Amino acid sequence: MPARPETSAAPIRLADYTPPAWRVSDVALEFDLGIDSSEVTAHLTLHGAADAPLRLDGEGLELLSIAVDGAPLDPGRWRHTDNVLEVSGMRDGSVLTTRVRVQPAANTALEGLYLSGSRETGFLLTQCEAEGFRHITFFPDRPDVLARYTVTLRADRARFPVLLAGGNPDGTGELPDGRHWARFVDPHPKPCYLFALVAGRLEKIERDYVTAEGRAVKLVIWSEANAIDSCHYAMDALERSMRWDEQAYGRSYDLDVFHVVATHDFNMGAMENKGLNIFNAKYLLADPDTTTDDEYKAVEAVVAHEYFHNWSGNRVTCRDWFQLSLKEGLTVFREQQFSADMNSPSLKRIEDVALLRRAQFPEDAGPLAHPVRPSEYREINNFYTATVYEKGAELVRMLAGRLGTEGFRRGMDRYFADNDGRAATLEDFLGALGAANGIDLMPYLAWYGQSGTPRLRARGRYDEGTQRYTLTLSQYTPPSASQPDKHAVPIPVKLALFDRDGNMLPLHLDGHAHDTETVVVLDASERSFTFEQVPHAPVPSLLRGFSAPVLLECDYAPAELALLLTHDPDGFNRWEAGQQLAARAFDDCRTGGAEALDAWSGALKRLFVEPGLDAALLADLLTPPGEIELAERQEAVDPAQIHELRQAMQSRLGRVIGAEALERRYRELYAPGPLALDAAGKARRRLQRRVLELLALVAVDTAHALADAQYRSAKGMTDRLAALGVLVRGGAAEATDALADFRRRHADNPLAMDKWFAVQAQIPGEPALGRVQALEQDPAFTLKNPNRARALLGTFASGNPSGFHRADGAGYRLLAERLATLDSLNPQIAARLATAFNGWQRLEPVRRDMARQALSDLAGRPGLSRNLSEIVASVLSR
Ligand code: BES
Ligand code: ZN
Repeated sequence: MPARPETSAAPIRLADYTPPAWRVSDVALEFDLGIDSSEVTAHLTLHGAADAPLRLDGEGLELLSIAVDGAPLDPGRWRHTDNVLEVSGMRDGSVLTTRVRVQPAANTALEGLYLSGSRETGFLLTQCEAEGFRHITFFPDRPDVLARYTVTLRADRARFPVLLAGGNPDGTGELPDGRHWARFVDPHPKPCYLFALVAGRLEKIERDYVTAEGRAVKLVIWSEANAIDSCHYAMDALERSMRWDEQAYGRSYDLDVFHVVATHDFNMGAMENKGLNIFNAKYLLADPDTTTDDEYKAVEAVVAHEYFHNWSGNRVTCRDWFQLSLKEGLTVFREQQFSADMNSPSLKRIEDVALLRRAQFPEDAGPLAHPVRPSEYREINNFYTATVYEKGAELVRMLAGRLGTEGFRRGMDRYFADNDGRAATLEDFLGALGAANGIDLMPYLAWYGQSGTPRLRARGRYDEGTQRYTLTLSQYTPPSASQPDKHAVPIPVKLALFDRDGNMLPLHLDGHAHDTETVVVLDASERSFTFEQVPHAPVPSLLRGFSAPVLLECDYAPAELALLLTHDPDGFNRWEAGQQLAARAFDDCRTGGAEALDAWSGALKRLFVEPGLDAALLADLLTPPGEIELAERQEAVDPAQIHELRQAMQSRLGRVIGAEALERRYRELYAPGPLALDAAGKARRRLQRRVLELLALVAVDTAHALADAQYRSAKGMTDRLAALGVLVRGGAAEATDALADFRRRHADNPLAMDKWFAVQAQIPGEPALGRVQALEQDPAFTLKNPNRARALLGTFASGNPSGFHRADGAGYRLLAERLATLDSLNPQIAARLATAFNGWQRLEPVRRDMARQALSDLAGRPGLSRNLSEIVASVLSR
């Protein structure tokens, strides 16, 4: 193996946690801001035992001066090596002052203090989570050091008219030479990863809000001038989020101002800095002409997520980064509840479970698998994963389900009360939830410490003579390299029994009557549950609402799944039965079988004309699992074949429903009049899009003509992009003009242009690579902007399996090349895009060898970042 110095450094381990030797009670920061060079003066009031040396983190800082209690520090008392500033002989209560210089415009990693946009018109901002604060000043950069912050910003007034930092405003004023200052004081002690500042030319919209506790709060959203009109939807979403957290959890906002800022240059989606949230523009700006329905929902969800962190993350923060899911899993769950309340609960659940299966299950099944609470890491930024977020949210959902609505609220109240102002652990969380309800929840810790998706096996046996139905549940989690022996975890299984007419049966279990739905908990490797008074052999509906993040294995007959798909009164369970059936139909396409394929297409043909069925739900029912999910069903994965088979099963569905019925429905769904952004409008567009996609598989010329007309007359981005996608992916002659038109129309809007790149990166099969290479030469393409790099390379590598996984390996080589270039600009983005290689071990032999070669060539390059080398080394292992 080639030498990889960065990965050879020892990992950080959960087991090695020790409390900090020195704490910081107060921080006073002074910034003298400039685009190329900014100076940062930090006064830290320190507390600790004099015999322990003070060790502060700092990376890429030019140290200008250092003093203790106002006197310059004797050079014998400090040492600056290896990103650590070590000071000896500190006394409890002393104030350490450092002055450093940093270079914002040269910072292409977008971590620490950096420039967004151009040198002439851009603005300065910070990103500190997880370990960015050490790029701004010397500090114990760990989340269990909580301090009160006073921040003074100084800058040229003309170039930086707006100066913002987290906390309450505490004065502004003029300085000589056209400069000015502003000060902010945050009364709530916080870890340094929640620090933020913003400085530049920005416009704002404002709203007054009064909390349930009676505090008057000024809500302010900031963006560059040309986007300020697109901030109103986010403002509404923010207000809804604040009200919801008051009502659902009794949590109110706790400062006098709440600032939100949009930037086009951001590594992540958004960041919950105390009092100064910073958003990737993609998750804040919204207007009907350039924002799709799904993106509107995403804006609402991300605004809510970051706002909810104010309690789950900020008031109660994490002891160390191993506890990341304590804030992220919990906050994702809270956002899921909120979005379900604001929109449709079953559609939201469908979306979240689909995401879990598409993003988290593959992660948990391959070399990148890690527990929701990892036991070690080298680069923490690589652990903001679907496992920590999405599986973490599922674990909270199981706990909430176990406690019930009132019990969970009681538990959350206890958690917030006991841990307010503290840096907590997952044990603190489970402990508080349990203590408030007199229940021991510690068995659920097993879920947090173990990687891999448990397989839940279900077998039913009906005894006519005794009228008993016995359900035997067992679990098994495949071993992984670091965890050869997996343990049983508690698996709550929500279930119902259906009779042959599709009615739910009343349940009699353990001598109790249970209504028609109940939850049993599989808390061992195997258990049986016997239902009494069952008049005939039932069809079990298992794992209702996706009550646990497991893979269910149950030998349903296709007709039984079709019965659930047709009759389950719950929209999510219906969809779930349809997904299981579709997966079996996919197997039929592979093996030449017909039973499941007929059952699936036949049931959907009937549902297609069922009166009163929600249009959005029907759209989702008509969508089989994606290519990534279906790959799990192949021994040696051939993405080109999976694409063909999935297309084939959909054209079969299209033919069974019938081209005429599809076209008729498409036309019926046409809505005259202005764009309707309400639920009915969104549902209509969602179904119309799905119908058009199916029609494109069975009557291609008709579909392309309809798509072309739709593109031209579309009233909003949802319909415009749906039409463009059908034309582009279908290789229609009309695609060229439509793409040119889209580009002309949206050239000035970076978020719309990202869609223009992404839609072309989705062309299926061999031609995708050439298109991506051509688009890389487009003047609008740049690797320096994360959204643009993701739109083209991320979509190609992670969103287009048949395009990326070319049999000749050219997709792998292209990605590896670009990752090497990107790594020197922005290691976080490079590492994230590299996860597209996950799963290469399961590819068929030809592709597998190509992928391995591309990866090991990449691994052998000198000077890779810790971020990228960790991902490449992990993906290559095993
Ligand atoms: N705290 C994170 C943002 C973050 C992640 C900062 C990683 C630094 C490193 C934020 O709360 C978050 O989770 N953002 C998500 C979006 C959210 C809606 C799931 C993101 O950025 O992807
Ligand atoms: Zn978050």
